[in-house]
Amino acid sequence: MAKQKHGNTVLVHLVIFFFCAFSVSARVAPLLQNYGNPIFRSNFHTIYDTSNYGAFQLSNGLAKTPQMGWNSWNFFACNINETVIKETADALVSAGLADLGYVYINIGTVLGQLVPDPKTFPSGIKALADYVHGKGLKLGIYSDAGAFTCQVRPGSIFHETDDANLFASWGIDYLKYDNCFNLGIPPKERYPPMRDALNATGHKIFYSICEWGVDDPALWADKIGNSWRTTGDINDSWASMTTIADLNDKWAAYAGPGGWNDPDMLEVGNGGMTYQEYRSHFSIWALAKAPLLIGCDVRNLTAETFEILTNKEVIAINQDSLGVQGRKVQATGIDGCKQVWAGPLSGNRLVVALWNRCSNVATITASWEAVGLESGIHVSVRDLWQHKVVTGDAVSSFSARVDIHDCQLYIFTPFTVSHSVE
Ligand SMILES: *[C@@H]1O[C@H](CO)[C@@H](O)[C@H](O)[C@H]1NC(C)=O
Ligand SMILES: *[C@@H]1O[C@H](CO)[C@@H](O)[C@H](O)[C@H]1NC(C)=O
Ligand SMILES: *[C@@H]1O[C@H](CO)[C@@H](O)[C@H](O)[C@H]1NC(C)=O
Ligand SMILES: *[C@@H]1O[C@H](CO)[C@@H](O)[C@H](O)[C@H]1NC(C)=O
Repeated sequence: MAKQKHGNTVLVHLVIFFFCAFSVSARVAPLLQNYGNPIFRSNFHTIYDTSNYGAFQLSNGLAKTPQMGWNSWNFFACNINETVIKETADALVSAGLADLGYVYINIGTVLGQLVPDPKTFPSGIKALADYVHGKGLKLGIYSDAGAFTCQVRPGSIFHETDDANLFASWGIDYLKYDNCFNLGIPPKERYPPMRDALNATGHKIFYSICEWGVDDPALWADKIGNSWRTTGDINDSWASMTTIADLNDKWAAYAGPGGWNDPDMLEVGNGGMTYQEYRSHFSIWALAKAPLLIGCDVRNLTAETFEILTNKEVIAINQDSLGVQGRKVQATGIDGCKQVWAGPLSGNRLVVALWNRCSNVATITASWEAVGLESGIHVSVRDLWQHKVVTGDAVSSFSARVDIHDCQLYIFTPFTVSHSVE
């Protein structure tokens, strides 16, 4: 059901008017009201198409902002045990990451054959969940919408209710549901039974759909999961990260409170990319309202990794109450390597990223036209990595020199009448 992009403009405006005038829907109105604001160009809603924004259709009350936490897979793969999970819980709290919002601790692989392996999880999952909850955190688990998981352990297909009840009895808060050994049954058929089974437990369990983007889940999964993977697995390389960012970008119009596009977990801190590349990774994931699931060993963070993962201003972009996914709005230079990504934020602000994907230092310019501002509008520009206002009064465009593979991230606050009077 492709949405009409060039459809009947008059009708669209009538609908917008209807929403604004009668506040029919609290979740849609704040965004649409901005379209009528004279600081934004008339094509603002075309640049930031939100035609499927914020459906809330799963109605489990979760994912009002993208999920944040940690997942064991990227660093530990199958080599996990309860000691690692407990020490990670301790580290999230003691390093201050939990206070910044990283609350889900997600076990990223199977625990054993139906019951947790007594060698790796001798105390059982209930005791582990109690430990994690005691720290004010939440515990996530992994299963598969198929006959077997990717590590060839039993999956949950055809016994979703039993498994959901078991997870709920342990006090599990989050389920990542994978796609291996799926018997060729379409994901649209395999994922809803677990949604219903989780719901029937009466426990609020975040439902993370992981069908690798194969059946374009953005088109249907908002009614089924709290997030859906839009791509295959990330790996700890610049090539993988950039490829995945671009693939995920295609579905920006479908994200919103209640259901998010998921371009996979963070590789920040795992060693395969430079500091600048990891800053880009974190900036673009934040701007794109991706889940911020740390994928490194948080018991042993370098100062650089810590600085990136704990940047409060960047996290605030990701967790902004408006919940609109930012996107690539301009690409110039060789192979479009000088990129501007941007998105609307609450309070009539914009987040703007200048992303240098070229193989040399580059000056990148964000024009007001590209980001959807009227050309005469004055803007205060705050740099979220330098933590300071770099110019209090930019008009018509903003430029910066950006290191190789680095990404500068800014908040643009347009002057309103009340601002300029102050
Ligand atoms: C179950 O689904 C109903 C209907 O969508 C919803 O109102 C309720 O909050 C859900 N309960 C849980 C525990 O997810
Ligand atoms: C738990 O797993 C970690 C990481 O793989 C490993 O270093 C540690 O030796 C394991 N501990 C036990 C008790 O198996
Ligand atoms: C990582 O992903 C990139 C881009 O998709 C791919 O070219 C590369 O082969 C992958 N590397 C590994 C080790 O899987
Ligand atoms: C901590 O990380 C560094 C690399 O950043 C590594 O050399 C070291 O072995 C790690 N220590 C532990 C205990 O894992």
